Amino acid sequence: MDVHNVEMVMSAVSPSQYPEDGRPEFALVGRSNVGKSSLTNTLINRKNFARTSGQPGKTQTLNFYTVEDALYFVDVPGYGYAKVSKKKREEFGQMIETYITSRKQLRGVISLVDARHKPSEEDIMMYQWLDYYNIPVLLVATKSDKIARGKLNQSESVIKKAVDFNPENSDFCFFSSVNKSGKDEVWNWIEKKMTE
Ligand code: GTP
Ligand code: MG
Repeated sequence: MDVHNVEMVMSAVSPSQYPEDGRPEFALVGRSNVGKSSLTNTLINRKNFARTSGQPGKTQTLNFYTVEDALYFVDVPGYGYAKVSKKKREEFGQMIETYITSRKQLRGVISLVDARHKPSEEDIMMYQWLDYYNIPVLLVATKSDKIARGKLNQSESVIKKAVDFNPENSDFCFFSSVNKSGKDEVWNWIEKKMTE
């Protein structure tokens, strides 16, 4: 998709604040600092539209970005950030669970993991949970610019094995917001899920 028009339309905590026009939605999930906002920015050709920072835990609400008046990206607070209080984390958990399990417009979830590491317990739980609810998942191994080309295959196997990857309900790709690799693959997946 050739993107020119993007707007942040809503910062929502509860379902009454979600947009109501019924456009397809794609959520981005992953631990804090994995690169969700960076991936959003890369997909929409902006430098710092979705706020990124070296400071994890920045995104604290469901942020709806409308893209070409055709779909929404939903930037979700990152999980696994210890400095966010337990109560806050439980609130995030509830908010995300409500959204993902009840949202009819949700066509798929882009689940980010760090290409350099074995997925964390929380990464695994998130993937398993999405798969359990039969939500189409694009598992994205991000920051791929940080690993050598020759190690990509190994990284892919480690990640797929750890999450018990289900190819019937999910796809996988590498991504880097630094060199933009994987951008077309992510867009192709989104466009495919919009027409399915
Ligand atoms: P929260 O909003 O806290 O959940 O974080 P996030 O998942 O939105 O992460 P964000 O996009 O803010 O990126 C976190 C840090 O990782 C920033 O310093 C980014 O510059 C860096 N980063 C993100 N993507 C990449 C990537 O593909 N490669 C490299 N090398 N760094 C990246
Ligand atoms: Mg973010």
